[in-house]
Amino acid sequence: VFSALDATTAAHVEPAFARAGRLVLSNAKSFRLEPDVPLVIPEVNASHLHALALQRRSRGWPGGIVTNANCAATGAAVALAPLHAAFGIEQVFVTTLQAVSGAGYPGVPSLDILGNVVPFIAEEEAKIECELPKLLGAWTGSAFAPAGFGVSAQANRVPVEHGHLTCVAIKLATRASPDDAIRVLEEWSGPPEVRELPSAPDRPLAITRREDRPQPRRDAGAGDGMTVTVGRIRQDPLLDLRLVALAHNVVRGAAGGSILNAELLAHRGELPCAS
Ligand SMILES: NC(=O)c1ccc[n+]([C@@H]2O[C@H](COP(=O)([O-])OP(=O)(O)OC[C@H]3O[C@@H](n4cnc5c(N)ncnc54)[C@H](OP(=O)(O)O)[C@@H]3O)[C@@H](O)[C@H]2O)c1
Repeated sequence: VFSALDATTAAHVEPAFARAGRLVLSNAKSFRLEPDVPLVIPEVNASHLHALALQRRSRGWPGGIVTNANCAATGAAVALAPLHAAFGIEQVFVTTLQAVSGAGYPGVPSLDILGNVVPFIAEEEAKIECELPKLLGAWTGSAFAPAGFGVSAQANRVPVEHGHLTCVAIKLATRASPDDAIRVLEEWSGPPEVRELPSAPDRPLAITRREDRPQPRRDAGAGDGMTVTVGRIRQDPLLDLRLVALAHNVVRGAAGGSILNAELLAHRGELPCAS
């Protein structure tokens, strides 16, 4: 069951499906931070799906709930995952420029957003700050161990149709130059089992070296909306590195992410209909 419900409705509808033996692939925030609910981007943390066994045991559900991440956190997580694995991340500052389609339908009133920027999206900063450490953390076999870095996020709504841009400044545990970071990001493609899935893009992460990219209009559709495009990777004068990451918020950041999670579960024989 794919759930793209608002959070208030999801909070009671999704457990009802799980109790009835269905596996729910959810876009909603309601269960993302629960200690037994996987928050998954397949290329980043496929191992977190093992938490489903604990969830079923502890809640007595024959089905279960698997969530995908907040749309702005998704692009940042894909860009940060290879850097965290290679160098360790100690601090992250994220500033977002988020498309209007992220607000759902009918979305932001046109008189608020046309020719304007709104420097507030309800609950968005807390979601980014809480979800990134869970996404880049580990599943120990009995619990999630969040990544040990702090996140400071500022979220802005901008008059763009699709594509959330995240400007990220990073403090690393091991110093690395922009060229070191580019090499690590270019070599990263996630686990082989995910690359074979039908909705997986050729590259989950693409690097652009053009100084004026990524741009939502030109790059949000990369990999049919499933590729995160990263550019402007450079030295940060205060921390270590900074970069710009772009993700299609309603494809990789929502429905496409849910479908990829379902494909991974089907590949592992974890969907009730596949057993
Ligand atoms: N848009 C994004 O970029 C994005 C990214 C990641 C996560 N999310 C999350 O995904 C969820 C959906 O987001 P959205 O942008 O698609 O919002 P949306 O346009 O407001 O869609 C919400 C949908 O839920 C349906 N719904 C609400 N209450 C219902 C009920 N009681 N029974 C059956 N259906 C009900 C609505 O149906 P009606 O149209 O008939 O009211 C609508 O189709 C939200 O939890 C959101 O936070 C969105």
